[in-house]
Amino acid sequence: MEFSTLIRERKSIRGYLPKPVPRQVIEEIIEVARWAPSSMNTQPWHVHAVTGEVLDRIRKGNTDNMLAGVPPKRDFPMSEAYAGVHRKRQVDIAIQLFEAMGIARDDKERRTDWVMRGFRQFDAPVSLVLTYDKYLEPAAISQFDLGAFSHAIVLAAWERGLGCVINGQGIMQSSVVRAQAGIPDDQNIMICIAMGYPDEQFVANSVKSVRESATDLVRYVGFDD
Ligand SMILES: Cc1cc2nc3c(=O)[nH]c(=O)nc-3n(C[C@H](O)[C@H](O)[C@H](O)COP(=O)(O)O)c2cc1C
Repeated sequence: MEFSTLIRERKSIRGYLPKPVPRQVIEEIIEVARWAPSSMNTQPWHVHAVTGEVLDRIRKGNTDNMLAGVPPKRDFPMSEAYAGVHRKRQVDIAIQLFEAMGIARDDKERRTDWVMRGFRQFDAPVSLVLTYDKYLEPAAISQFDLGAFSHAIVLAAWERGLGCVINGQGIMQSSVVRAQAGIPDDQNIMICIAMGYPDEQFVANSVKSVRESATDLVRYVGFDD
């Protein structure tokens, strides 16, 4: 697939077929994604590819903790209190998803169900948990590197007919993920990527998020035209 088409066509997938992803396909994806750039070529990423019973135990642990009111805990300091235009975009994508799913504003039950789906990583057959070495904290540059790596993963997956959603929800109870996936104590969990074959019948998969126009996000300095 042509690169410009690939990058424009990819979208987050939140409904999957119950079809396993062969390990060999994941290996191919990682083989491609490892060419992502990183600060001083440090390549500070680790991938823990999780499936089967282990992933099911992570889903259950996350769900049980969230229902029991255990506060989400990430491995690094962060603020999710978006404001201004960021908050607006956050709300807009939620509206797009809820409208597609036919979930009304006041339908608390279905809204909760949707959130719980997120904590189960949308029942994807595979989750790639991305980590970096703890000693790197404060790790803004390494986190940036893992972002570049993540994008490479989701594009390489899309090229192979696989859908993904990069998601924070799946690792919000990071101690559950750490314990079940056997993630070493000297690594911080950054993010996870749910992956699988898209369920074309799942309506939220038809949602195409929007972007600001390029002219609104860039200024050109020193150009003649
Ligand atoms: C760091 C990061 C965390 C995300 N966390 C979640 C999440 O927890 N749940 C979810 O449904 N989507 C999550 N997403 C997906 C975004 O909502 C999505 O990328 C964005 O709305 C743009 O849509 P697109 O991926 O379809 O282009 C996350 C994406 C990124 C990059």
